[in-house]
Amino acid sequence: MNYEIIPIEEKHIEIFRDAVGTVAKEGKYLALMDTPSMEQVRSFILEQLKNKMPHYIAIAGDKIVGWCDIASFNRPAFAHSGVLRMGVLKECRGTGLGTKLMQIVLDKGKEMGLTRVELDVREDNVNAIKLYQKFGFEVEGKKRNACRTDGVYANVLTMGLLFDEK
Ligand SMILES: CC(C)(COP(=O)(O)OP(=O)(O)OC[C@H]1O[C@@H](n2cnc3c(N)ncnc32)[C@H](O)[C@@H]1OP(=O)(O)O)[C@@H](O)C(=O)NCCC(=O)NCCS
Repeated sequence: MNYEIIPIEEKHIEIFRDAVGTVAKEGKYLALMDTPSMEQVRSFILEQLKNKMPHYIAIAGDKIVGWCDIASFNRPAFAHSGVLRMGVLKECRGTGLGTKLMQIVLDKGKEMGLTRVELDVREDNVNAIKLYQKFGFEVEGKKRNACRTDGVYANVLTMGLLFDEK
């Protein structure tokens, strides 16, 4: 698969929404279970761009095949940290794309002065957890039964990465 990893721009909002919707509809990995509304995606991306947060996409032709971003908490006492989210389309998984996206986004986060990145992941999402651990994320807590899909509960792990303990 030929793709290019680039920072997201306003013109990508619609295809970003398509990619998020595709992974959300798998119903196993994201907090979303369906395609988010255009208004939700637009306001999120515009906020990301305004805050100059790292938000990268892997683009193949006119399709986004993966993304990784860090979002701000928009709270002064949390300005040193952000929350990471990512996804890769099913057909492109296991080929190193997630690793490349994560590397770029963490490097950019560090460069802009973040000292902490956190994320939430279902305890049964073993591939994602392996990827996060590869980059040094540590489990900081377990939210029991935090997630329920089709009537089945799953625990959610909170993971965090510190760039600098100062
Ligand atoms: C998690 C996700 C983004 C990883 O992307 P990816 O492109 O598959 O990742 P990579 O190919 O770079 O693999 C990264 C690591 O994940 C683990 N991994 C990936 N696929 C794996 C598999 N089939 N079996 C075992 N480990 C696997 C490995 O540790 C791998 O690192 P390594 O190759 O150095 O051993 C992708 O699986 C995905 O989009 N999943 C659905 C959405 C999701 O879970 N998002 C995160 C929600 S918290």
